[in-house]
Amino acid sequence: MDLLEHFQDAKRDPLRRLLAEKSAWFSQDKKGFLRYRLPLRSVQDLRASSCDFSGDVVRIGTADDLSADDHARVHQILRGLMPWRKGPFSVFGIDIDAEWRSERKWNRLVPELPALAGKMVADIGCNNGYYMFRMAPYQPTMVLGFEPYVHHYYTFNILNTFAQQPNLRAEPLGIEHLALFPECFDVIFCLGILYHRPSPLEALRDLHSALRPGGILLVESQAIAGNDPVALFPAHTYAKVPGTWFVPTATCLHNWLTRTGFTEVRLFCDHAMSSAEQRRTAWMEFESYQDFIDKDNPALTIEGYPAPRRVFFKAKK
Ligand SMILES: C[S@@+](CC[C@H](N)C(=O)[O-])C[C@H]1O[C@@H](n2cnc3c(N)ncnc32)[C@H](O)[C@@H]1O
Repeated sequence: MDLLEHFQDAKRDPLRRLLAEKSAWFSQDKKGFLRYRLPLRSVQDLRASSCDFSGDVVRIGTADDLSADDHARVHQILRGLMPWRKGPFSVFGIDIDAEWRSERKWNRLVPELPALAGKMVADIGCNNGYYMFRMAPYQPTMVLGFEPYVHHYYTFNILNTFAQQPNLRAEPLGIEHLALFPECFDVIFCLGILYHRPSPLEALRDLHSALRPGGILLVESQAIAGNDPVALFPAHTYAKVPGTWFVPTATCLHNWLTRTGFTEVRLFCDHAMSSAEQRRTAWMEFESYQDFIDKDNPALTIEGYPAPRRVFFKAKK
């Protein structure tokens, strides 16, 4: 079904043009695109006999669903999709231990989840769709994942080719495109995104405008400790990550939310980060949390900034 049919209130002409541009961009015959597009094409006929999204591991199919040849082929494709940042997954019995133990973040959200049944939901920066699959048992009408990165976009689409969840969909869009979706969503998840935005206030305004009146925002962000309403602005990187702009205290993020129009703003979780939650694995072989933190003082990042915490807010439009 055409995406636009789900979004009668979207700015349809510019959205149609943007999606056509993105599709043309992703269709280029360059190595960086073919690397993902060809595997997606090659698995079009492979289906999982069953899925289980109710536990910590997102389970798609079983080993018995595939012939030995197809199983080996899928294993190779999944290895080709490394690094796996979010998980864990089990795909046709192949266990993928991702860098992040994303089930921990999801389990912190669960007690605060608004009703998702029959709702239009957005997941901003959905990555490979781990959280979208976890939302599926709550029976939303649709979860639209915004994911501009080719690697993550195709990883989700390969997984959902196996899983065939028609109400889960990702588009190669960014948070900056939310303005094309005025009052279109009942619930928006914005997890791990705000500190990557050079203007977090603009991002929050866009999130506000994309929610229907009474809609709910669940936002999770990297944060620094402290009660002052301030944000850290790193000189270059923060915990070795470039593209990190403002890292707020919880108080600062609370103020950002209220001043961009949200009501009933409530902090419901605030925890320190650790290498138990983000670490190198056989499916993500690069540096991870322990390499980002001062070895002699875990309260500091490698750059000497306060080490990251993670904060979770629920807010209403
Ligand atoms: C730190 S990860 C967070 C992933 C996931 N939401 C989570 O909390 O585990 C940031 C994600 O945002 C995506 N991203 C990058 N630029 C973006 C943009 N302009 N708008 C939305 N998402 C973006 C990245 O590709 C990546 O998947």
